[in-house]
Amino acid sequence: MLPSRTQGACLRLPACLAADHRQTRAVNVLVTAGPTREPIDPVRFLSNRSSGKMGYELAAAFQHAGHTVLLVSGPTALDVPDGVDFLPVETAAEMHEAVSHHITRMDIAAFAAAVADYTPAAVAAEKIKKSAGTLTLELVKTPDILGSAREEMKFTGTLVGFAAETENLLAHARGKLVRKGCDLIIANDISQPGIGFDSNHNEVTLVYPDHDAPLPRASKHDLAHQLVQAILEIHLSRTAC
Ligand code: CTP
Repeated sequence: MLPSRTQGACLRLPACLAADHRQTRAVNVLVTAGPTREPIDPVRFLSNRSSGKMGYELAAAFQHAGHTVLLVSGPTALDVPDGVDFLPVETAAEMHEAVSHHITRMDIAAFAAAVADYTPAAVAAEKIKKSAGTLTLELVKTPDILGSAREEMKFTGTLVGFAAETENLLAHARGKLVRKGCDLIIANDISQPGIGFDSNHNEVTLVYPDHDAPLPRASKHDLAHQLVQAILEIHLSRTAC
């Protein structure tokens, strides 16, 4: 029980300045993670290099901080973090449908999935047999899930994307921030050895609308906790009175 003098002082504060109270309020968080798989025939698919580790660590860190987390994930070899709701999907279209269905009740949505940008125009019913020396596949664009969160899905919460780039990291990341209506892009340079993809470590730059903030190289586990803090700070400032 707090001394009455302290209670009185707290009560005089405007509600929007009661930061401790606001920070501990649990929020609903959606995280996408892993690759998607786009089937070519019954035994083959197109996919991306993604272990899903960063997204799973992020989901676990939000859950650890007391928030309610839905993890929408493509196929990975990872265990679902304890206490996290899990919705497995296979294709970009399935991930798009799952996100569309759940995003409106979310306060924060963070898109760590490596979504395939193209999918075969048609899926062969039977295994494609070898014949000619070359094989041409017709591919069509998949839905941009993050890019449709604002206009199509009417999401008004805090929106966070990832950008894995091999060149012009900050320019590409900032372009995605603006194009997709994000509050933050977590950008990493995948041309650097020892980070990203299958690694347990990552080195990212936080790209905000008005500035960039590089973070030091860290394990994906430790980084996820820093990212949760950064994302919650944005969320608090967006929802402050
Ligand atoms: N993303 C998504 N749906 C897609 C493609 C990407 O939700 N069909 C999300 C990713 O989860 C990530 C962000 O958009 O948070 C950026 O993904 P990236 O593949 O880097 O960007 P693209 O928009 O696909 O652009 P490009 O491949 O040309 O770099």
